[in-house]
Amino acid sequence: MTVATWARRHVLSTEDWSRDEIELVLENTSAMTEVLSRPVRRAPPLRGRTVVLFFAEASTRTRVSFELAAKALSADVVNISAAGSSVEKGETLLDTVRTLDALGGDVIVMRHSASGAPYFVAARTTAAVINAGDGWHAHPTQGLLDAYTLRAALGDLAGRRIVVVGDVLHSRVARSDIHTLVPLGASITLSGPPTLMPSAWRCGALPPGVTYEPDLDRALDGAAAVIALRLQRERAESGLLPSLREYARTWGLNEARVARMRPDAPVMHPGPMNEGIEIEASVAHGARSLIAAQVTNGVAVRMALLYLLAGHPS
Ligand code: NCD
Repeated sequence: MTVATWARRHVLSTEDWSRDEIELVLENTSAMTEVLSRPVRRAPPLRGRTVVLFFAEASTRTRVSFELAAKALSADVVNISAAGSSVEKGETLLDTVRTLDALGGDVIVMRHSASGAPYFVAARTTAAVINAGDGWHAHPTQGLLDAYTLRAALGDLAGRRIVVVGDVLHSRVARSDIHTLVPLGASITLSGPPTLMPSAWRCGALPPGVTYEPDLDRALDGAAAVIALRLQRERAESGLLPSLREYARTWGLNEARVARMRPDAPVMHPGPMNEGIEIEASVAHGARSLIAAQVTNGVAVRMALLYLLAGHPS
């Protein structure tokens, strides 16, 4: 394992990362999968370090995989959630940061409903900060685990076209997938209702390597992979969608749609899924699904990041 070219103090977004930095994380992730395959899944690089998991928004797989990752590297782990902490009593984010700092955390992994909250914390703590999802903005560890999972399935991503379908407007996963997959040479076709696309993107002002095709069947024709996003159901109530049934009919992944892709093309979803809305159960749990692999790889990716940020030099 190498930390030779790693110079980041925090992992807040992969938007400004070079391809080399992404490759370095993916390389270290492979090394971590070896640790996870041992009978005793434990290595010492974070012994004596404390990782604070500060989740002010719901999470199952991201929080648990960070906890498993930190423990596999022998760190001490402290969990703080908004419910049950002083945040509920009205403590400000700044006071929470001061408390976490005083407790001596080496790494703060945080999820927050406000876009930018991890930047605020990173500017005010001596700990390394990892963004585990901030509002609509970014979810860099999801982007990295999606890249790792796609590379493991498809090999080199150069020239591969990957479809990302669903509620792109509100999706930090979509943004982080773009910021991670495009530098690795993939192109992205976004699909989904125009009302759930950022308006500039809907009107054609898209980032490099990204296109928008509202017709999902057309988007999937010959694609190398598809990533379905969770539909935030409250959008239907707020008038952005005619109805859930219509959404499922027009943008839901089913067997017939998946068959339009290349024969080896995998299906992914960051979870949690609304089965029967953005994805049929038979597709989510079918032969092409990499959804379980995404969860498993999430642990190794998070180990790699914890190691790069806080591992003792070996
Ligand atoms: C995503 C999230 O929270 O951003 N889930 C995850 O981390 N696996 C996706 C979502 O909630 O839609």
